[in-house]
Amino acid sequence: MATLVGVVAAVAGAAVVALLSAALALYGQPLDTALKRAFSLHKVHSIKDMENTFQLVRNIIPPLTTKKHKGQDGRIGIIGGCQESSLTLSQPLVLVSQGADLSHVFCTREAAPVIKSYSPELIVHPVLDSPNAVHEVEKWLSRLHALVVGPGLGREDALLENVKGILEVSKARGIPLIIDADGLWLIAQQPTLIQGYRKAVLTPNHMEFGRLSEAVLKDPVDNGDRRGAVLRLSQALGNVTVVQKGEQDVISDGEQVLECSQQGSNRRCGGQGDLLSGSLGVLVHWALHAGPEKTNGFSPLLLAAFGACSLTRQCSHQAFQKHGRSTTTTDMISEVGPAFSTLFET
Ligand SMILES: *[C@@H]1O[C@H](CO)[C@@H](O)[C@H](O)[C@H]1NC(C)=O
Repeated sequence: MATLVGVVAAVAGAAVVALLSAALALYGQPLDTALKRAFSLHKVHSIKDMENTFQLVRNIIPPLTTKKHKGQDGRIGIIGGCQESSLTLSQPLVLVSQGADLSHVFCTREAAPVIKSYSPELIVHPVLDSPNAVHEVEKWLSRLHALVVGPGLGREDALLENVKGILEVSKARGIPLIIDADGLWLIAQQPTLIQGYRKAVLTPNHMEFGRLSEAVLKDPVDNGDRRGAVLRLSQALGNVTVVQKGEQDVISDGEQVLECSQQGSNRRCGGQGDLLSGSLGVLVHWALHAGPEKTNGFSPLLLAAFGACSLTRQCSHQAFQKHGRSTTTTDMISEVGPAFSTLFET
């Protein structure tokens, strides 16, 4: 969903996750019920194995100490937010503003006032359509822990040219990259932009996945074997982590395949993908930062993706329980803290 609300949801997701890692309340169902429904690793796995995987995700979450200054737990940049939307922006942005210094949005000059007017504290860089865009973003990269590329980006040639340059300088600096939405459209045009970059996570939906597979594998997707299809795409991209969103989310790093079927809601609201990419930005940073002793040899990006998928689905589930069919992206964002506690803070 390429809208301004999209980028706001991504920002809100990232900010709220980063800030609420110490949220206290325990909501929703007991954890082991949540775990039983949560996922299947390969075919059959015991609750104990699921618990172990969740424990690894918990391991990567940094402890909240009073000594830390804001932002140390994950400053995320978002490349996008250029497309306007008439949807309500105010509520997600109230949440965003709590974590203002955690989130930088790099957007077009035209989009900036809209984003700023709702959240004066959000750091907005109206540089994406400037001739110096690559340099303007590069100046900030040393302060950022991850970049989310694509929500609300659009497909204008000049912008995409700039984004190509931004991807190149980010890779050169080893910045983790989460690629979603129109960012994936760009990758389908030019897979070499991301091929072999092991700090990237791609989050395609069904249609985006098909487009990528055709571009990279020159094959139509085998819809009967999602796990195999995700594994193959990841390998063809040089073991870049791929998260195929769907009824279950299927995640692969070219070696293992995880499935996340944490109960969500039947109704997928538009912002769900944006919450996923935003929270992935933070979780990928945490996972890479945690080091191999915390992740027990598991791929940090795979764990981060699993954590972000579980969290997004849990948000959706909790929001749907409260609001039913009228659930909005905003309702989901309000559940980020409680859902995080339910899943990861026990
Ligand atoms: C990707 O992972 C598979 C499985 O571990 C391995 O066989 C392959 O060589 C890896 N590819 C790259 C490019 O590292």
